[in-house]
Amino acid sequence: MQILRMDGGTRIQGEARIESAKNAALPILAACVMTDEPVTLLGIPDIADVENMLAILRSIGCDVERDGSSITVRAQGDLYDSVPPHLAETLRSSLFLAGPLLARTGSVAFGMPGGCEIGLRPIDLHERGLRALGATLEEDDGIVRCTGKNLKGADIHLDYPSVGATENIMMAAALTPGKTVIHNAAREPEIVDLARFLNACGARVAGAGKQMIAIQGVKKLHGATYRPIPDRIVAGTLLAAAAITGGELRLTNAPVGDMIAQIAKLRDMGCDIRDGVGTLTLRAPKRLRSFGQLQTLPHPGFPTDMQAPMFALASVADGVSLVLETIFENRYAHASDLVKMGADVILNDRMAVVRGVQRLHGARVKARDLRAGAALVIAGLAAEGVTEIEQIGQIDRGYEKIEIMLSRLGARIKRADE
Ligand code: UD1
Repeated sequence: MQILRMDGGTRIQGEARIESAKNAALPILAACVMTDEPVTLLGIPDIADVENMLAILRSIGCDVERDGSSITVRAQGDLYDSVPPHLAETLRSSLFLAGPLLARTGSVAFGMPGGCEIGLRPIDLHERGLRALGATLEEDDGIVRCTGKNLKGADIHLDYPSVGATENIMMAAALTPGKTVIHNAAREPEIVDLARFLNACGARVAGAGKQMIAIQGVKKLHGATYRPIPDRIVAGTLLAAAAITGGELRLTNAPVGDMIAQIAKLRDMGCDIRDGVGTLTLRAPKRLRSFGQLQTLPHPGFPTDMQAPMFALASVADGVSLVLETIFENRYAHASDLVKMGADVILNDRMAVVRGVQRLHGARVKARDLRAGAALVIAGLAAEGVTEIEQIGQIDRGYEKIEIMLSRLGARIKRADE
């Protein structure tokens, strides 16, 4: 078993470059199966979720090559139309193959997807969207079989602006004859990026980033070379690390325009943040002050993926902070571990009240999901003494060698075998 062992109390300072976003890269990798021409993606981080997605692509017959941070996918010839259940379990994003494979082969089978255990995360909106395009779905023993040889564009209204469902429907519709309109679509930057990628391959997607996305199906997509957008959550996590340690950090290749909600909250906490073209510089105050209230919402609201890191900041900020998680019903996995480190927290269903303490102390804790793990790393940076984090496979899903990235910025953090 590997753990992260860290000794808190040093300032995070220096400069870091932000690479492509996990949540942009995953659907784009899935979309690679929609063309039989090679697709090369640039700046892709070496993280477990990407590795699992590449394993899934290989398992269905794609040829995948990685050269540093570039990945080339060739989806030539006949592809298998089923995602092996043992791989689907490792990654919720395996679900992203449903739309693309259905569009390409006319059928797809997938097991119920895994990923973070942060709530019920049903897939009804994905299923309803694919049905609306004319697919038939049957579930048997946890495997969903989806067929549709004669799909046709349709008007689809999402009850909730689900990121994954919007992406899945958008991909299926790109190769489906006729016009599809997605109403109440998710507006996350990663949706815009997926549309841009599809269009670079010859698709006709308009309106991504707005509530209504229109997709005119085309017969065929071609290959492309594409660099997905930088990761706003990795960028936010690093800013939070600098903020909690009284540090000073400059980010390059930062998706500044996609981080407005995060930047506003960090400013509320007393951080001095300067933005430039693709750069963000944060100078933290001696002690953070409470952000008051934080409510997670679909984009452009505050991103749920940054809730746990901000929770860590609140735990040492001056004053009382109120957190309301509206996206996922079970996303406070970090709370009990932060309490173990000395945080003062009251949890009530989707609401948390955090009274900032002067100092956290090191403890043995567990990364129960990806962002909960990030929150513990951030807390450990500011804690007195040694923090040991178990189950770091969760953190590796979304952060490339986090201990190296943070050591370069002044943290005392190591990966250790046990
Ligand atoms: C994506 C992100 C994840 C982020 C989340 C919300 C990826 C790979 N993951 O996850 O990091 O936290 O967006 O910004 O991009 N829902 C349904 N039925 C469905 C689908 C979703 O009820 O068919 C619900 C979910 O249970 C959840 C809410 O909708 O409560 C939001 O989920 P969704 O936007 O779909 O998140 P993901 O795409 O899974």
